[in-house]
Amino acid sequence: SGSELDRALDLIVEIPDFPEPGVLFRDLTPLFGDAKAFARVIEALGEEVGDGVDRLAAVEARGFVLAAALGYARGLGVALVRKPGKLPDVAGRVDYALEYGTATLELPTGSVREGERVAIVDDVLATGGTVAATAELLRSAGAVVTGVSVVLELESLNGRSLLGAVPVHALRAV
Ligand code: PRP
Ligand code: HPA
Repeated sequence: SGSELDRALDLIVEIPDFPEPGVLFRDLTPLFGDAKAFARVIEALGEEVGDGVDRLAAVEARGFVLAAALGYARGLGVALVRKPGKLPDVAGRVDYALEYGTATLELPTGSVREGERVAIVDDVLATGGTVAATAELLRSAGAVVTGVSVVLELESLNGRSLLGAVPVHALRAV
């Protein structure tokens, strides 16, 4: 039910000044650790992802946990986008800006097929840099990005503006 989802999302904790002064960090650790809350969140993400999707894509580390559970529940494989230097054979690499610092992501060769419809899953949409970089990698490899589903959207950082026409579904926006 909606209230069960609310209770699950209420487990997210606000941590001031992490990882640096002035940043209000949302910690999803208690949500991942609570079996009922985790199950309800996966169910709700599945509803948001919708039909007509061939594969999920997610970024390590927390995105992998969500996408693994959701992929299992929905019978979908997952394209595993990695932090740099982990992969022997990459289809593409992209550098992007974070809320705090910069980052690089790499897509393993053979992760997606030409024309495949791929939905991106992650825990938090902040500046949108991570998801926008993931979408760029997927498109460069020939995939069609159908949408982005996240647990939590930090609206003030305006991550959606980086994503153009790609639909964004958030279980909660703050
Ligand atoms: C966090 C989060 C998202 C991203 C959101 O990951 O899991 O992937 O940042 O920020 P953005 O919208 O500004 O790009 P982080 O790099 O902290 O990795 P982790 O999952 O390994 O903790
Ligand atoms: N919480 C978790 N991940 C994040 C955040 C946050 O507040 N901001 C950017 N990535």
